[in-house]
Amino acid sequence: MDKLRIRGGRPLRGQIAISGAKNAALPLMAACLLTEETITLRNLPHLADITTLANLLAQHGVDIHLNGKGTSYEGRVVELSAKRIVSTMAPYDLVRKMRASVLVLGPLLARFGEAKVSLPGGCAIGPRPVDLHIKGLQAMGARIDIEGGYIVAKAPDGGLKGAEIVFPQVSVGATENLMMAAALADGVTTLVNAAREPEISDLAHCLIAMGAEIEGHGTDRIRIVGRKVLHGAVHDIIPDRIETGTFVMAAAITGGDLELIGARLDDIRSVATVLSGAEVAITETPRGMRVRRLNGHIVGVDVMTEPFPGFPTDLQAQMMALMCTAQGAAMITETIFENRFMHVPELSRMGANITVHGASALVRGVPKLTGAPVMATDLRASVSLVLAGLAAEGETVVNRIYHLDRGYERIEEKLSACGADMERLKETD
Ligand code: EPZ
Repeated sequence: MDKLRIRGGRPLRGQIAISGAKNAALPLMAACLLTEETITLRNLPHLADITTLANLLAQHGVDIHLNGKGTSYEGRVVELSAKRIVSTMAPYDLVRKMRASVLVLGPLLARFGEAKVSLPGGCAIGPRPVDLHIKGLQAMGARIDIEGGYIVAKAPDGGLKGAEIVFPQVSVGATENLMMAAALADGVTTLVNAAREPEISDLAHCLIAMGAEIEGHGTDRIRIVGRKVLHGAVHDIIPDRIETGTFVMAAAITGGDLELIGARLDDIRSVATVLSGAEVAITETPRGMRVRRLNGHIVGVDVMTEPFPGFPTDLQAQMMALMCTAQGAAMITETIFENRFMHVPELSRMGANITVHGASALVRGVPKLTGAPVMATDLRASVSLVLAGLAAEGETVVNRIYHLDRGYERIEEKLSACGADMERLKETD
């Protein structure tokens, strides 16, 4: 398994091009199942999770043409055609690799009237149930049984019916699955307490380009009028706000000065507000945004993760790394996932002073972190260890960086180009 060796203490200076958003690309790829015509997605990031979903779609029978080398900084172009679907089953050995595979459930059920999708199972950050996806589809008339670890779904003879679906808690994936299913249902569907993430709006924009009738996306109430058929479309994937936030914190933690090309400040307003309290200056530029410290140091600030437009849970681990060497203390509270503090023991091995009480972690700033061998556990925890390594004195080796490759495109290239002393160690085992 590959490792990443980092020698810390060098401020990051220069520009980084932000890739297309992983969490927009995944539902957008699943949306190709809703039509027999070709969907073309541009600015596709080159990530392991994208490849995993492409493999799943291919076994359903989707024709996939991937253009672009994936080595240049602009994203790739992928053409997806679900004209000849040969299977409506998503097998366990593919779904277990990436939970977002459950996003094929709604489109398969809506277009083909049936689907057999493996329950995704939990992951490192929590049990990750899909009960809200299932309850929403049942409200639309689907019959759903759980058999041998699989969701076995069947639509009524006349197809799914529009319904009002009230989410007891905000769910990004359930909002996406049900918005896609509703696009081909008979009648009107209203999603109440819907997720408001930019990735939801991006999916809605693509569905509308395919002929769907959707309004309210980006708010907590989305109304979809079902269509009999949807057609092909060409869609540009939005930039990745989590990658943006990650590199904002990389500039801040190293005392550097970065311009993030293609980044959208509107997508990280809550992060910018919190960071202004930490004395990190984020200013818009014609090409994106510029990030640097305001007064040469970082100040400890409290943060609580919330659904969008609140502070994103996917930036909690990165924020915690930044707070480790802040002046003062920071209370970090995780409200979305049950077990998203696995970066804490690893940061502590680098000299951080963090105390966890249930869903909150109290970070007391220390003058410096010290490099150490550390273990990546999940995607965002891994990148928080990279950030800590960039700031730490000495050498840090991050193990199991396959977690990183799931969500960050060529991170060592992008950071080395801005002065980081980083290299990927290919492991033979
Ligand atoms: C999406 O996951 C993202 N993944 C996650 O990013 C992100 O952390 C999460 O949204 C929250 O923003 C993708 O978009 C591919 P949820 P998702 O449904 O859809 C509970 C990353 O690092 N819940 O909004 O799975 C759930 O357990 C990943 O890129 C139910 O109880 O998240 C969690 O506690 C990690 N029942 C909360 O809701 C359900 O049916 C939010 O989950 C569904 C969810």
